[in-house]
Amino acid sequence: MNETSIIRIPSGIWGLDEMIEGGFPFPSVILVAGSAGTGKTTFAQKYLFEGAKHGEQGLFITTLSEPTQWMLRYSARFGFIKREYFGREIIYVDMGSMLRNAKGEDIISFIDDKIAEVMPQRIVIDPVTIMQNMLKEEDYRMFLFDLTNHLKNWEATTLLTGEVGPGELYPSDISYAVDGVILLMMKEEDSARRKYIEVLKMRGTNHQTGMQPINIDSENGIMVLKSSF
Ligand SMILES: Nc1ncnc2c1ncn2[C@@H]1O[C@H](COP(=O)(O)OP(=O)(O)O)[C@@H](O)[C@H]1O
Ligand SMILES: [Mg+2]
Repeated sequence: MNETSIIRIPSGIWGLDEMIEGGFPFPSVILVAGSAGTGKTTFAQKYLFEGAKHGEQGLFITTLSEPTQWMLRYSARFGFIKREYFGREIIYVDMGSMLRNAKGEDIISFIDDKIAEVMPQRIVIDPVTIMQNMLKEEDYRMFLFDLTNHLKNWEATTLLTGEVGPGELYPSDISYAVDGVILLMMKEEDSARRKYIEVLKMRGTNHQTGMQPINIDSENGIMVLKSSF
């Protein structure tokens, strides 16, 4: 397969597509990793709304046991969120309650069934790292490997979000199994906390390297700052 035959879809994050030759490869599985509050969920929502705008179906699977309404209440504050997409172009599924005591294979068939039902082009699993607490270490590795392989069988590009613990750069367990890794970071500078994005890996893509400053605001959600180009 030569480079020109890779289909790309826009990420929905302003400034990011220019860093990755036009967008995410389709189909593929991409990890968006960062510590709490770096903007992973906002990133994932922008990604789904971008698709919805172009008539693509989206599926948002949250692994947290918080009520979907709770998350939607917070996200509704963003200007880019269009309420009319909820339950139609973007289907939200809370799998928090089924995760307790579930085996890796049960989790994967649950996700597969949902995908078969909704037939999305864009999928989000937020955050996937929660499964680390539910499964034994070797089971977790196998689960990640099986999950990404299952996801690659669908005509969809999936974003997995990964919570990064203190002192950890990114969840290395997941990184080797996915096609792309995007890091979101927060740094303390001149007594201000600044946010950055870095493309660590993107298969088949001559991507920009190094950290780029990002901004999160109510209107646009997350965007790469233009001054750095
Ligand atoms: N309406 C808003 N305006 C500006 N910044 C916001 C707004 N809502 C959230 N944020 C910023 O985005 C961060 C939350 O991002 P989120 O996507 O929930 O992060 P994560 O999923 O990585 O924990 C908040 O910590 C805050 O800094
Ligand atoms: Mg989040």
